[in-house]
Formats: sequence, C-alpha cells, structure tokens
Amino acid sequence: MLSKNQGKFVRTIKPFQYGIFSSKALDFFDNSDAFLNILHGSVRSSKTINANVRWLNFIANSPHDKFLLTGKTRDTIERNVIEDLISMIHGKLYYNYDKYDGYIDIGDKRTYIVGFNDEGATSRIQGMTVAGWYGDEAATAPESAIKMAMSRCSLSGAQIFLTMNPDSPYHYIYKQYITNQELRKKGTVKVWHFTLEDNPNLAPEYVENLKSLYHASKLQYDRYILGRWVIAEGAIYDKFVESENTFRYRPKLHDINICCDYGVSTVTTFGVMGIHRDPEGNSYYLLEETYYDAEVMGVAQSDDERVDDIVTLQDRYKLDNNNTLFLPHDAASLKTACEKDSRVKMKIKTYTPDVNEDIGTIQRLIATRRFKIHVNCKNSIEQAQTYSWDKKAQAKGKDMPLKQDDHCPDMWRGGICGPMKTAKKQIYHASRRVKI
Ligand SMILES: Nc1ncnc2c1ncn2[C@@H]1O[C@H](COP(=O)(O)OP(=O)(O)OP(=O)(O)O)[C@@H](O)[C@H]1O
Ligand SMILES: [Mg+2]
Repeated sequence: MLSKNQGKFVRTIKPFQYGIFSSKALDFFDNSDAFLNILHGSVRSSKTINANVRWLNFIANSPHDKFLLTGKTRDTIERNVIEDLISMIHGKLYYNYDKYDGYIDIGDKRTYIVGFNDEGATSRIQGMTVAGWYGDEAATAPESAIKMAMSRCSLSGAQIFLTMNPDSPYHYIYKQYITNQELRKKGTVKVWHFTLEDNPNLAPEYVENLKSLYHASKLQYDRYILGRWVIAEGAIYDKFVESENTFRYRPKLHDINICCDYGVSTVTTFGVMGIHRDPEGNSYYLLEETYYDAEVMGVAQSDDERVDDIVTLQDRYKLDNNNTLFLPHDAASLKTACEKDSRVKMKIKTYTPDVNEDIGTIQRLIATRRFKIHVNCKNSIEQAQTYSWDKKAQAKGKDMPLKQDDHCPDMWRGGICGPMKTAKKQIYHASRRVKI
C-alpha cells in the first residue's frame, strides 16, 4: 500500500498475517538440525514461509554474524523472500535492507544477497565465509554455484536451508542429496516434501484455479502441483487434437504479425499469426506458413529471397507499420537485409525465446484451444504432433526439446510470445512511473 510522507510516496509495511502452520511445518521447525535441510515440492505449498521463520530463528541463535541468501536474481529474492521477511520483523527488530549493495542487516546479523542467475554470481561468493545459507529456488541454480555456496558454510554450527520445486529426477540436487540414503542416514541431509495439502492457508478456489492453470501440461502438473521429480517425456504438445486445433475459416482478428524460424542451410519458415483479443485471454491463429527446406531443395536460400517471401506475405495480408515482424535472435543478417529493403513496411523486432517458458505458454493455449492452425499449414500441423522432449538431454538433468522437426514450433514462438512479452514490458514501464 502507498501513502504520502513529506511529499514522497512511501510503501507502508503491513505486519505478516500469520495463519496456520501444518504439522509438517512444525516438524521442520523442530528437527531441521542437519547441515543441509531441504524443503521441496509443489508451488504455493508454504516452503518459503516456513524457511523464513526458521531462518530468522537460526540467525538469531547463531553466535556468528555473516550469512548468505540466494535465489534466481536479486529481484526475485526481494519478491519471494525479503518482502515477507521484512513484514515478519517490521516494528519488532532493527533491520536495514540494501538491495543495491546486496545485503540485509537484521539486528546485528548481516545476510549477503546474491542472485545465482546474475552475472558473476559464483565469483562474488568465492571468498566468503558464512555461518549459514538460505537458498530460495535452489534447483534453478547451476551446480557450480550450489557447490561453491556449500563450501562457504565453514563456520562452526553452519547450516543450509534450501527450498525448491521439483525438476528432472536426473537433477544433481535430487541425485546427490535428496535421494542420497548415506547422507540422510548420517543426518547430514534432511528432507521435507511439501504438497498443497501442507498449506492450509490457501483458499480452496485458489487451489482449484492453480490446478487448472497447470492442467495443460502433464509434466508441469506432476512437478508443480503434485510436487514430483519426473522426466519430461514423449510429445510436448500432447493436448493437440487436429480436429480441435485447426480451422478453415478466418475468425475476427485484431492484430496480425509475421514470425520466423531461420536456418542458413536447413529450414527457414515464416508464419502469419493472427490475434483475436479477448479480456478472458487472447486466441492465436496461424493463417499461413512458408517452409523452405534447403536440404530438400538442394540449394540454400539467400537473405534477399527470404525478404521476398516476407514482402509477399506482408502485401497479401495488407500489413504495415502497425504490424510487427518478429525475427529470431540468431537471424542478424536477415534482420539487416529487411532493414535495408524499403519494401518492408512492418516494425522489425528480434525475439529471444525462453524455450521452456514459451513451451508452457503454448501448451496452455493448445489445451484450451486458443491456438489454432489453418488446415493448409501442413508442416505446422505435423510438427505440432511430433515435437518431442530430448531423452539424451534428460539423462543429463536438462529439459530440452529434440532438435528435429522443430522449425514450426520454433517459428510460432515469436508470433505468440513476442506480442505477449511486449505487452508485459509496457505494463511494467507504466507501473514504474509511480514514485515509491
Ligand atoms: N503459516 C502461514 N501463515 C500465513 N500464510 C501462509 C503461511 N504459510 C504460507 N502462507 C501463504 O501461502 C502462500 C504460499 O506460501 P509460500 O510462498 O511459502 O509457498 P512456496 O511453497 O514457497 O511456493 P513456491 O514454490 O511457489 O515458491 C503465500 O501467499 C504465503 O503467504
Ligand atoms: Mg517459494
């Protein structure tokens, strides 16, 4: 909540409204005396709140005064951990939070804050010696950073508290710690598995909504709702049903953009993506695709020929600078060729994918029939059904699509996720104009 103080807007900090702690949470408070204490499981299952309470208790009772808090980035650490930590201590304990220098002092204890996705993170903790480490979203961190942080906890009585959602069962944290019976028998590692039932503070309607949000993807449902470490297997868009996800007659559209997947000596494909806007959620229609396979044709296409394809589509759909051409991040020479060619009237943007996040978005659209492909787009219809997870990458703990017949799914991303991300950025910039 914002209130005015001496002409400036300041954020009012509301004290944390404690609800119910489940019996699993109480067990974690009482028994988390191992060197490495891991809370893993479903989203929203109270892992972070329980870790926060335990962390405050841990640092208060430690004879030392230097600790470490990590997460994906300093921004996510602030949102996921610091805001609740502050609302738990505000008005009760002295604190000083400095996001930019990366620390929070609580009483006379200093906790350094490091984002493991931020550049140079591992080197920043390299020389540190701390008496404890709280790692939020630890499964998203590189193994080297986790190992480095562990080695920093060398002061007597040091303890580690990690929270995370499940990933692949080949993930190093799952293999080396969660399922390591030797370390668990010795009491070096202790593990608590949380599911939505372990958080009695969530409204039943919220839980239902959460479940339906993840329903589109079996993988995400199993990991984020059921809290299981399972592999991504089989077809990625397994909810695609040809009769439901294709269309013949063009619906009413509010926007049309062109998207692309680019391969110098493989396939270059362009798509014309129509958007039907709806406050309940937009729908996306692939109206047309081009597909040039250099291996089949026996000769690579030049960038000038690709620009010709773009201009043909642009003119056929009467597109101009109200429409956008989303080019992939690795198509620098094609971008230059488009910028030089005065026939290209559309805005040109580079789209950098977030592969697994984009897959999740498209899975939801396919499952809710909000992404449809024109019956004439044969390659897209085929690849929607054959696009699969890569088994070899899974064995190394990574979720990756197989790099085979993936050109159309890669092409759709810019047309679907490109406009979504542009809209999100605009909302973010507008909200930054509020003085806090
Ligand atoms: N003891 C509690 N009292 C009041 N609210 C709680 C309590 N435990 C959890 N909550 C609330 O439940 C929600 C989810 O909790 P939390 O963020 O700890 O879950 P999580 O398991 O860390 O989720 P994620 O995996 O998404 O990070 C939050 O809104 C949190 O404030
Ligand atoms: Mg959390």
